[in-house]
Amino acid sequence: MIDVNKIRKDFPIYQTHPNLIFFDSAASSLKVKRSIDEVTHYYQALGVNVHRGVYDLAYEATALYEHARQNVARFINAKEEEIIFTRGTTSALNLVAQAFLHTLKPGDEIITSELEHHSSLLPWMIAAQKTGAKLVYIPLTDEGRITVEGFKKVLTNQTKIVAITHVSNVMGYLTPIEEITRLAHEKNAIVILDAAQSAPHMKLDVKKLDVDFLAFSGHKMFGPSGVGVLYGKEKLLNQIEPYEYGGEMVDQVTKDSVTFKDAPLRFEAGTPVISGAIGLSAAIDYIESVGFDDMHHHTHEIHQYLLKQLMKVEGVTIYNKTSDNPVIAFNIDGVHPHDIATMLDSTKVSVRAGHHCAQLVSQFLGVQSTLRASIHVYNDRHDCDVFIQSVIAARDFFRQF
Ligand SMILES: Cc1ncc(COP(=O)(O)O)c(C=O)c1O
Repeated sequence: MIDVNKIRKDFPIYQTHPNLIFFDSAASSLKVKRSIDEVTHYYQALGVNVHRGVYDLAYEATALYEHARQNVARFINAKEEEIIFTRGTTSALNLVAQAFLHTLKPGDEIITSELEHHSSLLPWMIAAQKTGAKLVYIPLTDEGRITVEGFKKVLTNQTKIVAITHVSNVMGYLTPIEEITRLAHEKNAIVILDAAQSAPHMKLDVKKLDVDFLAFSGHKMFGPSGVGVLYGKEKLLNQIEPYEYGGEMVDQVTKDSVTFKDAPLRFEAGTPVISGAIGLSAAIDYIESVGFDDMHHHTHEIHQYLLKQLMKVEGVTIYNKTSDNPVIAFNIDGVHPHDIATMLDSTKVSVRAGHHCAQLVSQFLGVQSTLRASIHVYNDRHDCDVFIQSVIAARDFFRQF
């Protein structure tokens, strides 16, 4: 069982902002003390580069950095050679799209969906434009879900890439990825999973999922910004081209030739995100100390409580009542979401308003933009009550005009 008062002691922001009602964790979660402390320790006690120096401090920094890699690998049931530290999900997904660019030709098909965040969609849209490959969208259900049935309708012998989200950042729907991956592999297609929204909420096991690549970000799971993870199957990682060229990723350089190290280092040119990796590893330790089961139990309960209250508010349209992740996309009829979000802020309620970097979702819903309230382990029923009162007050305020 989660004791929110105890949990909040682990998030220092509640000391500086005791009245914070934070419902924007899907954009970026609050940061946990354990992660902040590890980042601070790195900068205060080490601060040096990794993989290069032969002095004690460099050895220690390298050990911490590589321990972070092992920890992430263990966390998702991968091998450490399969974990690349990136700047975030966006750079991880761009790396993969760039690597497969030269393999695509006119007539090839890339399957994606209207539920994608732009960082899962745009690298492949551009890849399609550059190569003549075709971008194919999985038909969504009326509710807006990706289903195996929908996927089967677009899977063909021309399918080379399947690039989809594990959980939509707006709708919160979970993609049935295991079956989709199995079907895609029958056609020898590569599956790339955007796990930015699933990694903070559920146990990921890359062996079970069997996807070829998977990406997530530290800042959505209580860790630092500026760090993310690209998982790739070892064999594939050593087949694809590096994304960037520079220090520490080469084996041998002559005046006109170069050979590269094996993964993961061939994809980590230059000084890596050392503090970020260390901080992410500490955030993972924290998540595991709380436990996904308890976290899910709590966030699900708060999600259902909030949903039930919001459904009672007249003038509110909710777009994802059956969401799997604790996220609610909604609008107040006749009022621009940004105006509502700004008013909510005056009662210290933080929500997101806009298209959430997923404009095709707004188009699917037939709206310009939405409000999004997203929940994590530090939210409680009191947060929900304040949120509901603020939404009603904002609605009534704008109704005067
Ligand atoms: C589903 C999804 N994919 C990708 C991203 C991009 O993550 P980042 O900005 O950390 O690269 C986000 C962030 O909002 C997201 O929600």
